[in-house]
Amino acid sequence: MTVIMVTKKDPYLHSARVDREVAEHLIGRLEKRGRQPDFVRIRQQFLDQVPNQEPRLVLDVGCGTGIWARDMACQWPGSTVFGIDPSPFFLEAGRRFAHQEKLARVRFVVGEGHALPFPDGGFDVTLAATALMHMTDPLRTVKEMQRITRRHGWIAILEQDLETLFFAHPNVDLSRRILKAGIEYWEADGYIGRKIPGLLHELDMKEIQVLAYCLTEHGNEGYLLMLAERFAEAAKEQEVELKPAVEAWLADLKASARQGRFFASNNFYGFLATRED
Ligand SMILES: C[S@@+](CC[C@H](N)C(=O)[O-])C[C@H]1O[C@@H](n2cnc3c(N)ncnc32)[C@H](O)[C@@H]1O
Repeated sequence: MTVIMVTKKDPYLHSARVDREVAEHLIGRLEKRGRQPDFVRIRQQFLDQVPNQEPRLVLDVGCGTGIWARDMACQWPGSTVFGIDPSPFFLEAGRRFAHQEKLARVRFVVGEGHALPFPDGGFDVTLAATALMHMTDPLRTVKEMQRITRRHGWIAILEQDLETLFFAHPNVDLSRRILKAGIEYWEADGYIGRKIPGLLHELDMKEIQVLAYCLTEHGNEGYLLMLAERFAEAAKEQEVELKPAVEAWLADLKASARQGRFFASNNFYGFLATRED
């Protein structure tokens, strides 16, 4: 797997360096996305599939505001859950939310996935959710996850693959161009979903399972409309001659959301694997 060049605009890729104002904006987006009923369902269904339902030590890599960490602490009452992320602002928010929800068993640590500050083999479950997609070196991060997970412990990864994303807009060709620009010029790796099984095999992980979750938004504004805005911005920068068409495309989607007709969909994939060496 290639290492991502840091020229991409993806703000999560640069999360350690964004200022407080940008971080607060991203915190709002992460929490808003995480509370959408479809995301609540995906988290619950995926966590239910983790074979060890009594883990003691759990790690959430690229935890952001800790929405998965909090859910894992609730799902597994005997656990202590660590969340690690490069952004001190995200972690500050994470501590606040965990405190509000009276979850003293959730702890947050500043750090990077490719250099996890934990000894070998201590964690029962190590999770990364929609985080590898935003990292410079996902392979090294998964290697690190493997290292710090105990023998017969579980690695859980949830990712999306943005080629599965569509927006219901009558101009299919224009939609494709905008999506391609967004994926390739914005996201660190919008095609990460398809790469995870290969990566787990490369690391000789065992009992690899793949689960699929479909996110569908119909009616009003949600996470996928936020993605459309981001992709439109990338397309305008990359294909300047398309600017008026892209602006009209985004205006159409926003109008459809105002009228309750917005429709878009995207697939997420859950991956489970164990280390047995
Ligand atoms: C889209 S957010 C997902 C946050 C959280 N997992 C969730 O699902 O709400 C991506 C996260 O990856 C984090 N991230 C980016 N580069 C990272 C790295 N090198 N190591 C660990 N986390 C990283 C970002 O700071 C951000 O919190």
